Amino acid sequence: MPPHDKLYPDLISKGLNTSRIGSKVIVFGSATSTNDIIAKYADDANNDGLAVFAEEQTQGRGRNGVKWLSSSSDSILCSVLLMNEDSSSDLLSLIAAVAVAETIGEPATIKWPNDILINGKKVAGILLESKSTKAGGAYILGIGINCHQKKFSGELESTATSIYIERGNICDRTILCRRLLIELEGWLEEANNNAAVVIQAWQELSTQLNHRITLIHNKRKFSGTCVGVDPEKGLIVELDRGGRQFFAAAQTSIVK
Ligand code: BTN
Repeated sequence: MPPHDKLYPDLISKGLNTSRIGSKVIVFGSATSTNDIIAKYADDANNDGLAVFAEEQTQGRGRNGVKWLSSSSDSILCSVLLMNEDSSSDLLSLIAAVAVAETIGEPATIKWPNDILINGKKVAGILLESKSTKAGGAYILGIGINCHQKKFSGELESTATSIYIERGNICDRTILCRRLLIELEGWLEEANNNAAVVIQAWQELSTQLNHRITLIHNKRKFSGTCVGVDPEKGLIVELDRGGRQFFAAAQTSIVK
């Protein structure tokens, strides 16, 4: 184990050279869901960039209403508050995916819209939620990274993985948390300057680009070849039946 495997806010903040993301860092031993905790800070625009971490969650949740399970101190469970953000939610979703994949490093890839995979298994997930508050619009970016898990059971056995399983060594979660905040700030700034750079990075990390995929969109099945991603309209697919269609993340899931 690294010397300081327990997470402490001052150790995460030490040497953190960001100006916005991680401007305040809070660590909970146990939380319901870091996304729920951080939502309570969204009435004050001064909390922009706040990062909340937890060693464990009792009500962690993922996309599409699924539970996000994590044994204590084995993961990074993080939420970041973005107040009055310029980027759209679809672009934020791409930004977050690139930032998390870069935090974990090679050979992490992205499965649209924002699952992070290693060797085809999910190592991290992102839950982006929005809230209207008296301080303006708030985005809550929830990120879960599997770090020290030695195995997964049940149906997760064939679909989930951790950094330990893939690399065979215990990572330093403090360093990873700090890197996550730095990557997030960097890619948010990149998007403000030129969103095309984020899209290019996303496409380079994508497992789907130029591959055949099948998706369920509004309960209908579509097959075709993924040819790109649009920050506003979603995944771009050349359908087998002819024509090009956009698939928005909120209404779509990839089944193959
Ligand atoms: C997914 O892939 O379905 C998204 C998973 C997101 C999990 C993280 S863990 C920290 C934050 N708090 C939550 O309750 N969920 C997110």
